[in-house]
Amino acid sequence: MPGNLYHVVGAKQFDRPTLERLFESAERMEHVVREGGTNRYAGKILTTLFFEASTRTRLSFESAMHRLGGRVITTENAAQFSSTIKGETLEDTIRVVSGYCDLIVMRHTEIGAAERALSVATVPVINAGDGAGEHPTQALLDIYSIHKELGRIDGICIAMIGDLAYGRTVHSLSYLLTNYKDVHIHYVAPENVKIPAEVKRYLEEKGVSYEESTDLIQAAATADVVYQTRIQKERFLSLEDYEKAYGKYVIDAAVLEVMRKDAIVLHPLPRAGEIDPAVDHDPRAAYFRQAQNGLYIRMALIEKCLEGR
Ligand code: CP
Repeated sequence: MPGNLYHVVGAKQFDRPTLERLFESAERMEHVVREGGTNRYAGKILTTLFFEASTRTRLSFESAMHRLGGRVITTENAAQFSSTIKGETLEDTIRVVSGYCDLIVMRHTEIGAAERALSVATVPVINAGDGAGEHPTQALLDIYSIHKELGRIDGICIAMIGDLAYGRTVHSLSYLLTNYKDVHIHYVAPENVKIPAEVKRYLEEKGVSYEESTDLIQAAATADVVYQTRIQKERFLSLEDYEKAYGKYVIDAAVLEVMRKDAIVLHPLPRAGEIDPAVDHDPRAAYFRQAQNGLYIRMALIEKCLEGR
């Protein structure tokens, strides 16, 4: 990473002390929001540069910057409404945008785009999702949510369900969980969207226990956290392949029935049929609280990047 800029590229860059400090900052940000915000970053500008659709990530980063007293400039559909459509390279776009702001939050269609961006950026860059690669800020809010809901991360059993190949959040979350002791990950996926070998290799290097199966009920019955994901339709090469994966695993009353009373259901959202809305009324359904936590974690990340540490 060039200079002293603090970038957020991938989940592997986070160690446990950094995560603990980030949780403390996020808790502090919850108070800041309750108090009506702060003017601490008045005069600072955040750019949100999104080449892919988003509701939560873009709007929570923008809300976070407003809550911190800063301002936001944005290209919400950058693939169409930025000069990318005229053939400008990502590197040229980032060089130019660096001159207009103090921090860039970027979502892109290509794996590795965040690394390309920070190689030329003169301000910090936060990866808000790079294709089927990583989504580190989502994983940070996911483990912050586990920490808040369960009061612990060490020793948990987490079932990750659904599209584990294209679902970038499960890659980043798996990497982050290597910072904790005695974690067990149970991956449950349709045959054509299993967890990638490189994620399993990393877990093995770090000594994290995992298993793969196709039995949602068995996984849900033993999990502290049931982490459901959407089948990422937009990333499949054919509709036929998508249809092979879609609809296989749904969290519904039957799954709630076998889950432990103190377990939780998480989902990065958006959902597209893989959690029955009837589940929303169960206190174990934590996914909307999880989305709210995105605001606090992203306020903490903005602070971290603007302070350069
Ligand atoms: N979880 C998540 O990244 O949601 P958005 O695509 O709406 O940003």
